[in-house]
Amino acid sequence: MKKIILFADTGIDDAIALIYALKNPEIELKAIVAGYGNTDRNRSARNAEYLLELAGQESVPVINGSTRPLSGEEPEFFPEIHGEEGLGPISPPIPANRFRNRTNFSQLFRIIKDNPNEITIVNVGRCTSLSMAWFLSPSVMELVKETYVMGGAFIEPGNVTEVAEANFYGDPIAANFIAQNAPNLTIIPLNVTRRALITPTVVDFIDSVSNTPLQQIIKPILDFYYDAYQELEPGIAGTPQHDMAAVMASLEIPGLFTYTNKQVKVEYKEGYAEGLSIADFRPGVPECTGAGCVRIATDINESIYFVDMLRTLIRND
Ligand code: BDR
Ligand code: CA
Repeated sequence: MKKIILFADTGIDDAIALIYALKNPEIELKAIVAGYGNTDRNRSARNAEYLLELAGQESVPVINGSTRPLSGEEPEFFPEIHGEEGLGPISPPIPANRFRNRTNFSQLFRIIKDNPNEITIVNVGRCTSLSMAWFLSPSVMELVKETYVMGGAFIEPGNVTEVAEANFYGDPIAANFIAQNAPNLTIIPLNVTRRALITPTVVDFIDSVSNTPLQQIIKPILDFYYDAYQELEPGIAGTPQHDMAAVMASLEIPGLFTYTNKQVKVEYKEGYAEGLSIADFRPGVPECTGAGCVRIATDINESIYFVDMLRTLIRND
C-alpha cells in the first residue's frame, strides 16, 4: 500500500489522476496539495474537494498550495483546455459545508512527520508548492520516501511552447530546484505521458459500466478535454493522461515504464528556452549514479498502461 500525497493543479487530467488514486486499492491517499496551474489555486482546491465528495472520501485533507510561481509573476491559466472552472463543462456546486476539510500548509509537514519514510509525493502540477515545502522545512521533507514529478519533455517537443512542457514552464525556477534537489526523484515527462491515451471509445465504455457519482464525471470531462485536444493536436486518437501516468508510475507496475538515470536542469532564464528540461542524452554518455541523479521515464508499454487504467477506472466499489 502506497501512502501518497498528491500535489495537483486540479484540471481535467489531474481529476482523472485523482479518480485513479481514489479507486486504486494499492493507494492510500493521505492528502491533496492544491495549487494554481491549469486554473487558479482556489478553483483547484475546490475541484479536489468536489471529487473527494463524489467519492465519499471527504476525510482526505485538501491543503492550500501556492497561488503563483516563485518568480512572483501572475500565472497563466488554461480555460480553453480545462474549462472555466477547471473541470470542463462542470461547475462544482458550493454546499454550505464546503471547505470544511481545507487546511493550511503546515498540515503537510504534520502528515509527513507522522509517516516517516513512508510518504510518496506525486507532483502533477507546477513545482511551486513542493519547492516551498523544501524551503520551509528541509528536515521534514528529508522524511519523504520518494517523489514522482509529471513534467518536462526530453529531446521532444513541448506542449506549451516549442520546447517546454506546461508544468515546468509554469514555474521553471521551482522545477529546476526540485530536479536538482529532491532525493529519490522520478520524472515522468511528456515523452511518455502523451502516449498514455484514453480514446473516446474507451470513455464510452467506462461510462456504460459506471454506476458511481465519481465515475459518472469521467465522460463529461474527458469529452470536453478531447474536443480541446482536437484543436491542439488535430487527429490525436484520445486524450493524454499526463497526470494519471505519474500516479501509475509511483506504483512501480512491472514493465510499465523504461527509465534512464540522468542529471536534470530546467532552463529558468527568460527567453525562448524557458522551461526547457535538459539532460545529457548524447550517445556514449553513461547513466549517472548517486546524489543529484534523476530517474527519467523514456518509454511506456501502452498495453500494460491500458489494462491497468481500464481495470482501475471501471472498479465500482
Ligand atoms: C501537465 O500540465 C498540466 O496542464 C496538466 O494537468 C499536466 O499536469 C501536462 O503538461
Ligand atoms: Ca496537472
